[in-house]
Amino acid sequence: MLSFRQLLWLFFNLAFILLSQCTHAKDLKSSCHTCKQIADNFIKGLDQTKKQNFGGGNTAWEERALSKYETSEIRLVEILENLCESSSFDCNHMVEEHEDHFETWWFKRQKKHPDLYKWFCIDTINVCCLKGTFGPDCNACVGGSERPCHGNGVCDGDGTRGGNGRCNCDHGYKGEFCLDCIDGYFNEIRNDTFSLCTECHSSCKTCTGLTNEDCEKCKTGWGEDDEGACLDVNECLNDPPLCKEDQYCLNTDGSFSCKGCDKVCSGCTEAGPDKCQSCAPGYQDTEGTCTDVNECEQPDAVCTAGNQECVNNKGSYICICASGYEEQEGVCVTIPEPEENEEDADTVKRPEEHVDL
Ligand SMILES: *[C@@H]1O[C@H](CO)[C@@H](O)[C@H](O)[C@H]1NC(C)=O
Repeated sequence: MLSFRQLLWLFFNLAFILLSQCTHAKDLKSSCHTCKQIADNFIKGLDQTKKQNFGGGNTAWEERALSKYETSEIRLVEILENLCESSSFDCNHMVEEHEDHFETWWFKRQKKHPDLYKWFCIDTINVCCLKGTFGPDCNACVGGSERPCHGNGVCDGDGTRGGNGRCNCDHGYKGEFCLDCIDGYFNEIRNDTFSLCTECHSSCKTCTGLTNEDCEKCKTGWGEDDEGACLDVNECLNDPPLCKEDQYCLNTDGSFSCKGCDKVCSGCTEAGPDKCQSCAPGYQDTEGTCTDVNECEQPDAVCTAGNQECVNNKGSYICICASGYEEQEGVCVTIPEPEENEEDADTVKRPEEHVDL
């Protein structure tokens, strides 16, 4: 029997192995990426130093004694110094580690192997592969190195020493070889090596062609008619209705939505005060539109308690105390007149304005 401690130990070791393999696989891909950038920057460096010389023009003496700047160590060093951003650890590390290779290529291989990327990244430090191949031995990607994934996907690790060569298919495609179509797409063209998947009509879940008559299955919200074509289902005709009483139903292709009625309505067929089934309390039908009832102007007074005044508002009214009265315990009473203060207020002398003309 394994003790809990041993199990834990085993678990962590397994986790560590898995994790380190994952990061290793990622490293292989990013190493190639780093190397490619270095090779690209080397070519840029070559271009930038093309017009340079030893500083005063190549004199005949210099050309004899130091050889030409074009093929000089000085030019190589200048290019090497500008290969990496100073902040890129991976790049600087790779250049330092392989400085001798750059020297070898510069002085001895350049003529025979003008493609630095291929010579350095693929054939010398073995971090990249030719396009369409992957992994430690640069095997062909799924679907072949000519057209990996038959042109409908990306081969994992393509061009690097990492990855597994399998396909991540583009949208619309599926299967090991990215030749099959996902639901909602159909094969417009297909043979053993080529496949073109095209999107179905929006009414189809699956289909064999472009139109709504080519559906194999209708999407939800669509139904088959007598001829087998998929047509929108009008959910708004459903009995019982699918929307609440203060809502109206809006049918859309393949679906529907419930929208709130205008607040002057009690039930409606569309948006707006003129699309009510009946008017909400406090509103009346005026030539097909629901408008506010002015309760304060009705023949029968609505604010009947003493000293009240009626104020109309949208959909209703309120009763307030008339001016000079205030509400106390539910009845409108006279506001007590502040005697002394009032006299004071009247006798306050206001400074008069004089305008000299
Ligand atoms: C498959 O179809 C493509 C595109 O139509 C064509 O170029 C190719 O030659 C075909 N291959 C075969 C084996 O029929």
